[in-house]
Amino acid sequence: MIGEPRIGDVIGELLRDTLAVATGVGPRPLVGGRLPRPVIEIIERDDGLVNGAPAAHYLDGPEHWQPYDHRAVDRARGATLDVGVGAGRIALLLQERGVPVTGLDTSAGALDVCRRRGVRDLVHGTVDAHVADGRRYDTFLLLGNNLGLIEGRERAPGFLAALAALARPGAQVIAHGTDPYGTRDPVHTGYHERNRRRGRLGGQLRLRLRYRELGTPWFDYLVCSPEELASLVHDSPWRLTDVDDRDVPYYLATLRLRGR
Ligand SMILES: C[S@@+](CC[C@H](N)C(=O)[O-])C[C@H]1O[C@@H](n2cnc3c(N)ncnc32)[C@H](O)[C@@H]1O
Repeated sequence: MIGEPRIGDVIGELLRDTLAVATGVGPRPLVGGRLPRPVIEIIERDDGLVNGAPAAHYLDGPEHWQPYDHRAVDRARGATLDVGVGAGRIALLLQERGVPVTGLDTSAGALDVCRRRGVRDLVHGTVDAHVADGRRYDTFLLLGNNLGLIEGRERAPGFLAALAALARPGAQVIAHGTDPYGTRDPVHTGYHERNRRRGRLGGQLRLRLRYRELGTPWFDYLVCSPEELASLVHDSPWRLTDVDDRDVPYYLATLRLRGR
């Protein structure tokens, strides 16, 4: 169809070009065939809202991180699964600290970038599929807003059950979320209202990502308040034991596996 993107590994292509621009190695997008062009991740929401975000931060070293990222990695202990590892910025620091870390991602291109940057232990796929591999973890990291992978009321039980199936006794999840409800922007408050009318959580975003001619299929990504998270976790194998909201509207949620 005219104007529709080709479905492909948006994150993979985007991170590959971001790495090329950062290092000067390999083919990279150039302005006028000469100057490196910054790589921009295009995020489309199903109400027509479009946002562009520079992708360079996916490669950022710890000196450029937000304080909550540091607090999150400081809490990782034991065998750690970095869920949605991206370009590996978190996994690289954990590796350096001697924490046994595995990066998991659905994007083959992202994993390729991680490998080239030195992340040693990588898994391609979803948490659900990884259960069959037999590996088990003490810490799960959902950083870079990846609490969003919980998607909404329908997916949450399955996602949390898959994490529990991958968990050792006493395991923890450290997840970075954003409370979406502080805004007065009518574009967002109207979207939240429309979602609720359709039986969805207010911040249950329906998104697709685009880069150059590529697009992802539409997917749900949850931006929720700590109260909504508590309710999603309530009947799961996990307990919400802590919400660190020192950097409002961002927060770090800690979930602990219930005793069996
Ligand atoms: C917003 S980025 C965060 C990257 C990284 N955690 C960081 O903080 O820099 C989201 C990452 O999650 C990956 N991802 C998306 N859906 C996933 C899924 N269902 N399972 C595992 N990874 C997924 C994407 O490919 C992407 O690399």
